[in-house]
Amino acid sequence: MSETIENRGTRASHPATAAPAAATATGAAPFFAARDLHAYYGESYIVQGVSFEVREGEILALLGRNGAGKTSTLRTIARTGSPELKRGEIWLDGDPLHKMQSFQAARAGVQLVPEDRRIIPGLTVEENLKLARIEPPAGWDLERIYSHFPRLAERRNQEGVTMSGGEQQMLAVARALAREVKLLLLDEPYEGLAPVIVQEIERILEEIKSIGITTILVEQNAIAALHLADRAIILEMGEVVFDGTAKEIIDNKELRMQYLAL
Ligand SMILES: Nc1ncnc2c1ncn2[C@@H]1O[C@H](COP(=O)(O)OP(=O)(O)O)[C@@H](O)[C@H]1O
Ligand SMILES: [Mg+2]
Repeated sequence: MSETIENRGTRASHPATAAPAAATATGAAPFFAARDLHAYYGESYIVQGVSFEVREGEILALLGRNGAGKTSTLRTIARTGSPELKRGEIWLDGDPLHKMQSFQAARAGVQLVPEDRRIIPGLTVEENLKLARIEPPAGWDLERIYSHFPRLAERRNQEGVTMSGGEQQMLAVARALAREVKLLLLDEPYEGLAPVIVQEIERILEEIKSIGITTILVEQNAIAALHLADRAIILEMGEVVFDGTAKEIIDNKELRMQYLAL
């Protein structure tokens, strides 16, 4: 990686990352912070010292080429156990996620919408949603979900896994909102979807943004992600190589070519 781009990064010095802590007179911690995360799949060292912050209500795009470590970073934050976090701290609204297991992190408000969506076979749309609401703290009720996802209302009695990819993606996002969400983690929500469906998912994500749900959005489709995001970080080989505004990436061709192949 080149020095110039490295220097554009904000590991320690960028005002965008320094601001939240400095913003309050009490020196309160930022809403979400990943601090020096190191995570492994067995012996494979994959997440190599990742640090970043997210402000409350912000959408952060987590970008980078295939294999850069985006999914691994989300899975580390959601405390899935794989990869295993061996060093570092993860803070959400004052809670130490790094000390938690996945079910505790979910209770603390971390909701991961995984790339493969994990809709439960044999259950209808509505049953998938109801199941998510069994474990407290609950989030949106069915009425609210259906008002934001009219397609799911239409298909409430259909088996979830028999729906189209786009509809299953909507169900996966809706299911996350059925729990209390403080931090929504979206792993490639547009992947494999037709452009018209991408637009529909984008509309839903815009609604989520206007509601003010703090979100980390992983996308290969950087242009679509930057369209929604306030800020972005770029990962390369398990490290943060850029941290700044979405506009800075859009305006920087060299950066885009080097790390995003755009
Ligand atoms: N379960 C796993 N076991 C071992 N290595 C893995 C596993 N999952 C991912 N990796 C490796 O971790 C690296 C980062 O993968 P990943 O986080 O999926 O990247 P991205 O989501 O940015 O495409 C890749 O080199 C990948 O091969
Ligand atoms: Mg991935």
